[in-house]
Amino acid sequence: MEGRAPSPVQEGGILWKSSEESEADSDSPTPGEGARPSMKQDREVTAMDQAKLDRYLEEYGAKFEADLCELLKIPSVSADSRHRPDVRRAAEWVAGQFRSLGLTVELCETAGHPIVYAESLAAPGAPTVLVYGHYDVQPPDPLDEWTSPPFEPTRRDGNLYARGATDDKGQMLTHVKSAEAWLRSEGRLPINLKYLIEGEEEVGSEHLEKFIAEQRQRLACDVIVISDTSQFAPGQPAITYGLKGIAYFELRLTGPNQDLHSGTFGGGVTNPANALAKMLAALVDDQGRIQVPGFYDDVVPLSAAEREQFAALGFSEEEFMAQIGVDGVTGEAGYTTLERRWARPTCDVNGLWSGYQGEGSKTVLPARAGAKFSFRLVPNQDPLKIHKALEAMLRRLCPPGIKLELIPFHGAPGVVVPLDSPYMAAAAKAIEHGFGKRPVFIREGGSIPVVSTFRQLLGADTLLLGWGQNDDNTHSPNEKFCLADYHRGIKASAYLWHELSQISHKGSAT
Ligand code: BES
Ligand code: MN
Ligand code: MN
Repeated sequence: MEGRAPSPVQEGGILWKSSEESEADSDSPTPGEGARPSMKQDREVTAMDQAKLDRYLEEYGAKFEADLCELLKIPSVSADSRHRPDVRRAAEWVAGQFRSLGLTVELCETAGHPIVYAESLAAPGAPTVLVYGHYDVQPPDPLDEWTSPPFEPTRRDGNLYARGATDDKGQMLTHVKSAEAWLRSEGRLPINLKYLIEGEEEVGSEHLEKFIAEQRQRLACDVIVISDTSQFAPGQPAITYGLKGIAYFELRLTGPNQDLHSGTFGGGVTNPANALAKMLAALVDDQGRIQVPGFYDDVVPLSAAEREQFAALGFSEEEFMAQIGVDGVTGEAGYTTLERRWARPTCDVNGLWSGYQGEGSKTVLPARAGAKFSFRLVPNQDPLKIHKALEAMLRRLCPPGIKLELIPFHGAPGVVVPLDSPYMAAAAKAIEHGFGKRPVFIREGGSIPVVSTFRQLLGADTLLLGWGQNDDNTHSPNEKFCLADYHRGIKASAYLWHELSQISHKGSAT
């Protein structure tokens, strides 16, 4: 399987073979080959000039980088209301890209940040692909830990450093640049493309579901493509078939009506900070098992086969520990680090506050304490059910003298997507072509809330084709995107449009 020539047609000047021909060359199974792609019979598949496309990618590589830098300079931080105008500016920049390609574009207003929608439906009979991405980014702080400023994209060691470089501006743009390459070199797109690029992914995609529900007809598609995940390792591309869900909460505890002297009042009243520490500690036991009643009821156990597949990937715990600078790892007993990160539910405190934080000491009994914490969920767990069970548990644990408020933020279920589809096979082939190596199939611990919404409302599955690396510092200081991965992603995307064009569409999408 490894070390095979990436594709039967590599050198320029040859007309691209159809999938059917190249599949005959294939000597090892690809997911989806059980259910072979149904090839177009009723439609002449126009031969495309691969060399011309490759030449365009080569010639315009520097321009693709310059365009990404333009977008990265816009601080589109969706969580921070001071950046509202910047978020809009980023949306307009993305819309401008589609406009310049001649696509039909609309900047769709929501109660929050705008959604960019664009489409090209000029390939009758061919499948329709919906590309999802997000132009918003996480806050850049802590600012003093950045080597170069977060919104001044900087090249270092083959990487481009900036907030949003990999998550998701760089990855998202690969699918725009691939369309550009097709349109400017071939003069056409081989499939129908719809783009849905939102500005609220990093704050839980609050207004997206309503938009999708209202626009079901317009968004109808055969398959969805998202590049907002990672490769398995440098030199080892991957397709992600599972993402975690999430249930995020803020817990506020209020004790006495004001901060008190801890000597005078300590022992006489419940300290909200002490109470918070106890309540949070009660969420997970010493074996790493979450203690919310019924929490594991709907968890689908990892199959022996899947555990074997994870183990076969050759994950190095030593390298993992070295990357993040820790001397040991812990978690749910009985599972490997990869299993815990990818396929077991977890609980993490995300923020914590109470009492005196200033210089030196202050003997105070704080009036209030609070925490933000979240559970990462696996498929089949219901965020709402967990909210209810959690609230009941916390109320039971809440000691006298303390008022409790539990505020739920975003929730989304986890997902696994089928591996045995012709779309998956097409994606694997395109990645092999763009990256020079067959992808492995992985799950990840992050969440993309819209994936389950797409399944529910559009009845379509998602291909999670990640071009990032695990050490890209997403959500952290010094976020980066490897420029070679950017270009390989554009190439894989361009080939993906061709590979998908060889599959019959379901007939209802356009
Ligand atoms: N691109 C990430 C999702 C991701 C991260 C997938 C790591 C795979 C591995 C996305 O932008 C993100 O950060 N999602 C949030 C969702 C949350 C705000 C609901 C996340 O996972 O924290
Ligand atoms: Mn993202
Ligand atoms: Mn993110």
